[in-house]
Amino acid sequence: MHRRPRPDLRHAPRRPARHPGRPAARSATVALVTGAALTLTGAAAPAAVPTAGSATAPAAPSTGSDHPHRPRIHFTPEQNWMNDPNGLIHHDGVYHLYFQYNPEGDRWGNMSWGHATSTDLMTWEEQPLALPYTEDEHVFSGGIVFDEHNTSGLGTAENPPLVALYTSAYTGSSERPGIQAQSLAYSLDGGYTWERYEGNPVLDIDSGEFRDPKVFWYEEGGYWVMSTVVATERRVLFHRSDDLVEWEFLSDFGPAHADGGVWEVPDLFELPVDGDPDDTRWVLIVNLNPGSVAGGSGAQYFVGDFDGTRFTPEHLVDSGPPDGEVFADFENGYGGWEVVNDVDGQGGDGPFGTAPAAGTLPGQHPVVGYEGEHLLNGFVGGDAPRGHATSPEFTIDRDFVNLLVGGGHHPRTGEGGHASVDLVVDGEVVRTATGQDSETLDWVSWDVADLVGRTARLRVEDDATGGWGHVLLDHVMFSDDPVPGLADYDWLDWGRDYYAAISYNDTPDDARVTMAWMNNWQYAENTPTSPWRGAMALPRQLELETVDGRPRLVQNPVDQLESVYGDPVYDRNRAPVHARGLDLPPAEPGRAYQVELTLRPGRSEEIGLRVHEGADQATVIGYDTAAQELFLDRSDSGDTGFHDAFPSRSAVPLPLDDGRLRLRVVVDTSSVEVFAAGGRATLTDLVFPGPDANGMSVYTDGGPGSDEDVTVRPLGPGPGGAAE
Ligand code: FRU
Repeated sequence: MHRRPRPDLRHAPRRPARHPGRPAARSATVALVTGAALTLTGAAAPAAVPTAGSATAPAAPSTGSDHPHRPRIHFTPEQNWMNDPNGLIHHDGVYHLYFQYNPEGDRWGNMSWGHATSTDLMTWEEQPLALPYTEDEHVFSGGIVFDEHNTSGLGTAENPPLVALYTSAYTGSSERPGIQAQSLAYSLDGGYTWERYEGNPVLDIDSGEFRDPKVFWYEEGGYWVMSTVVATERRVLFHRSDDLVEWEFLSDFGPAHADGGVWEVPDLFELPVDGDPDDTRWVLIVNLNPGSVAGGSGAQYFVGDFDGTRFTPEHLVDSGPPDGEVFADFENGYGGWEVVNDVDGQGGDGPFGTAPAAGTLPGQHPVVGYEGEHLLNGFVGGDAPRGHATSPEFTIDRDFVNLLVGGGHHPRTGEGGHASVDLVVDGEVVRTATGQDSETLDWVSWDVADLVGRTARLRVEDDATGGWGHVLLDHVMFSDDPVPGLADYDWLDWGRDYYAAISYNDTPDDARVTMAWMNNWQYAENTPTSPWRGAMALPRQLELETVDGRPRLVQNPVDQLESVYGDPVYDRNRAPVHARGLDLPPAEPGRAYQVELTLRPGRSEEIGLRVHEGADQATVIGYDTAAQELFLDRSDSGDTGFHDAFPSRSAVPLPLDDGRLRLRVVVDTSSVEVFAAGGRATLTDLVFPGPDANGMSVYTDGGPGSDEDVTVRPLGPGPGGAAE
């Protein structure tokens, strides 16, 4: 029931959702947990609503040993549900971290702003609730600015205010049910207590999907600039204001690059390129869910220029297929295809019908993403009928076969009947593709350079009879190039758990420091932790560096990580790594670690590091030499069974530098963050290892390699809680 906590645009018509933010399933969950049937549509309100400052959250350290999965150096609330970081600001020597918080339960709901503070970004003290939800209004994500010159008039010249801009998600019992608009709250005591502005909302475009304001002072123009999203339209809006109250529309940006989900939580800021203050670019972060490169939620970014009105990216990847020869577009019947329906003899002409479908079939979510008027749609008669369709024979004469595929995720290698599109040469399946449990067709590119000159057929096999037991296929074409895909765009992180990333305002030395929710909406409500649910990734410092001729983000843990360094427990220069691997000293149970090492793949097919290693489990950080990619594989990382989408392997294309790859890996009790090649690529995953999975080793496959400059050191407090 909780499998799909967010609206999945791939199945949904692209129009604003009827209710703000979350579908009924998620609100129902909250009702179960809290016993108070407060839903976004406001069926009923809870008896008592907490007020600012009266929250129950004790001022407690964010790290403890109450649960084996409680992180040691990552922020978690003492109890209850947390999602996005909000209102990141450094003020009077204190880093404030507000966050999306359910004060009453460990699943999403009752959205309010929780609060924690730190002076070093490493140790956090949880503070009383900052902005509680009310019967009429849930408090969604937003940002905070220091209104130093009291432009808002909400403070005084002597005591200028901190001003929060947040999204009011109006409940069913409000006067604007389902609307999302931007509101203000202000603090006159440095961010500890907050008052709502009485003229709220301050920006309302009558939309149910308008949210996540992030504001900064635009120095060159002398005004405030706010970025927001219209989530389902995948657009970022920019507005300006002189006083934080009256807002004027400037421009919008999007859709662009990854748009397979809603756009959320934008952030716009300027950074020097290669450390040169005279050569700057603007970076626009756009979080997206689902549809990220690693699946589900993720954060993409664009580098470009902001002229005070408009953001213009300087590098956009062409979308759509390259030139080529179309082999099958299903516009004029099935042509020479041999179509076999109803192999079980149940009657009817499913799964393919007698002619290609004109789009969506009865009983099907809207089918989108095909070309022209028709496609092969294997949903005739629903999911149950089985059959196959085989193309005429052709000779492979180009390096790529590009095709649009959709429908169920039933790969040939899986259990149960498959639903796939296959390339068959000499009676053997040499390439195969399946859908992603989605009615949106997406490009698949097969590299067939090694098969040029061979004769082949395409075969669609629908052998799956249960849910999503159908295939969609369109626009098969032969080209010299693949279709650009998600991996061609720029991403903050290539792992599974890095979402709602935004940056701090007003940091010392203008350092650009980001925080992100270390989670993925695919399974966020199912992660096996208690009495809290949700953690923040390590704060990162962002820089722009020229890589392959254009500026890209480079990210590393903030320098303050060094303040929690323990003495190295292992340090060595260089060692060959053979098939049996090299053990590193086992981790002290319940401890966070940093492992730094350089991999030299040499003649190996794969080389890497296993952490949280036990008899039957490990989290693997490996380099695939032939594919030239670094991967993070948590398929067998311990407790992976709480959600189908959790076991996974994610990868980032990353060439070696002079035959080497430098890695910095931060391993906490329930997460692994990989900073590779000086921060050019990062991969972040949650993991839930068993209690005895404390091993660590370097391994190779398919030939010897070596490692260099290996250092292992503990981070943060020991398992008993005491810092060492
Ligand atoms: C992102 C998000 C935001 C919204 C908040 C609600 O994860 O969906 O768009 O403001 O969470 O909790």
